[in-house]
Amino acid sequence: MAFTNKKIIAGNWKMNGLKRDSWQLINDLLSKYETPDEKHNFEMIVCPPSTLLSEVVSMTEGSPIRVGAQNCSDKLNGAYTGEISPVMIKDIGANFVILGHSERRSYFKESNADVASKAELAIEQGLTPIICIGETLEQKENGSALAVIEDQFMNSIPSNATTENVIVAYEPVWAIGTGRSATTQDIIDVITKIREVSEKKFGLRDVSVLYGGSVKSSNADEIFAISDVDGVLVGGASLKADEFWKIAEASEK
Ligand code: PGA
Repeated sequence: MAFTNKKIIAGNWKMNGLKRDSWQLINDLLSKYETPDEKHNFEMIVCPPSTLLSEVVSMTEGSPIRVGAQNCSDKLNGAYTGEISPVMIKDIGANFVILGHSERRSYFKESNADVASKAELAIEQGLTPIICIGETLEQKENGSALAVIEDQFMNSIPSNATTENVIVAYEPVWAIGTGRSATTQDIIDVITKIREVSEKKFGLRDVSVLYGGSVKSSNADEIFAISDVDGVLVGGASLKADEFWKIAEASEK
């Protein structure tokens, strides 16, 4: 079984948002639900910067919107100035954590092994990691994309992961923040590969796989038309309530 049968609509705010913006954005999103228990065929997750986690958890309490962090430490506590432990994230009421985002892999030099050890501890603490993998433009052009995906999947996903306690996000680096989304065929090829590798690793094909990289309301229909896509990880467009909601609605068509 996968993490959920609903489509996952996750928003990665990255290093954006002050208190007032988050208040506005969350209120605008909450107002799209006519009633708090309105049934939707999607699970909405917002991942604000850590300064806003507590605020956003309080604002969304009792609502269908769920909350995640964007990174965590691979240590529980101690002398690690500036780090945030998964136990702290869980303690304030968030349930997810994005790990291995390409921006962290490239700017902060996180390796597959770093991502795996963070994810292992996050799972132990009851968080669901959203583990990002994806090839660079150079790797795509030199034909090594599928090998890179296999290597990242096998080595970033920790040994305590199951298809029910992790979510994988395929985010081609060349599609992130560039306005250039992957084509339907690119997405199908990679997700097929991810399912093959997941079968090898977990003995199961149905790990939840999100697509991320320039997802917007104008291409969401096309992305959700791919039956193997279990949801999306949205960056820029998750900062606008109308856009983010339209993307979520596209998952229900
Ligand atoms: P983008 O970012 O939607 O702005 O391309 C996606 C991501 O980095 O998760």
